[in-house]
Amino acid sequence: MQIELNKDLRPYNTFGLISFAERLIHLKHPAELVEFFNDHPQYPTLVLGGGSNMLLTRDLPGTTVRIEFPGVDLVHEDKEYFYVKVGAGVVWHEFVLTAISNGWAGVENLSLIPGSVGAAPMQNIGAYGVEIREVFHSLDAYIIGDKTFETFSKNDCQFGYRESVFKRALKEKAIISSVTFKLSKTPSFNTTYGAIDAELERMNLSKLSIKAVSDAVIAIRQSKLPDPKKIGNSGSFFKNPVIETSHFNSLKESFPEIVGYPAGEGLTKVAAGWLIEKAGFKGKRLGNYGVHDRQALVLVNYGGATGAEVFALSEEIIQTIKAQFDIKLEREVNII
Ligand code: EPU
Repeated sequence: MQIELNKDLRPYNTFGLISFAERLIHLKHPAELVEFFNDHPQYPTLVLGGGSNMLLTRDLPGTTVRIEFPGVDLVHEDKEYFYVKVGAGVVWHEFVLTAISNGWAGVENLSLIPGSVGAAPMQNIGAYGVEIREVFHSLDAYIIGDKTFETFSKNDCQFGYRESVFKRALKEKAIISSVTFKLSKTPSFNTTYGAIDAELERMNLSKLSIKAVSDAVIAIRQSKLPDPKKIGNSGSFFKNPVIETSHFNSLKESFPEIVGYPAGEGLTKVAAGWLIEKAGFKGKRLGNYGVHDRQALVLVNYGGATGAEVFALSEEIIQTIKAQFDIKLEREVNII
């Protein structure tokens, strides 16, 4: 267990925001979780994974822990699948690259998503037509109240769009220590998401492969989304809102180009990026922060902004979208 005092968290959050943790404890192995909770019965001020889905708006008193459990292990295989257990602290994209080099299919569409493996099921990460629940087998989590590790099946996790039980009933009650994925021996390519097909065509391949799909996704992401190493951000700041289809249809009369997808009976998921762009925020810059110029769902820190400033901008966007479209946007990132 490595302990640091009064630690600047800039390197540990992809938004690159300044926030000082009174005490930062690095946990390197699940056994250290047990040790930690024997000494600290309370939930820490913050549990950090890859720091890719949070907006730090203040300094953090007390204890912050960072989960750094390693390991990518093939634990079992059958005729169709590889079962791969991955430590919660592994960087998500490094796991994806390991999967691709081993021929484990299923996560190639999820290339280049920032963050750690342990944080991925929390919000059921998804991109380009695939969500983590589709390749999920089970996970192990430490239940703080019971002081034991429990295994969760896919059903136990209650996955939804950017949702799981760990954001709801088990919020601040459990810490994910590892995730086991069920990856295919025979790839079933998911290239239906328009831009992937177009990118693959541009790549002029003789044969489709999981590596090619990954390369296409990486190229698309790099063309639209800011690289957190260069411009601080947390990916999509908002969720795509789900509204009544009748409401969507009435908006369509005034805005025929509005973008939406069916989301269950009587419901439509609206592209929040479109709403924010239409409201005039895309590319808007306020000093050191603003709205990304190629994807309006992403708020950015050009360097030196505070979390409070970014939060205020997000509030202004929410209010404007409510006034213009009568739609309530919800934040995807956690506000700390
Ligand atoms: N759009 C605009 N203006 C914008 C952005 C988008 O009009 O500034 C329109 C696009 O023209 C398109 C539609 O909105 O018709 C959808 O855009 P895009 O394909 O970029 O996807 P998204 O719905 O905006 C979601 C995820 C992303 C993920 C992409 C690709 C959420 C909240 N976001 O964005 O996830 O990469 O799909 O699958 O669901 C993330 O969560 O951090 C993230 C980047």
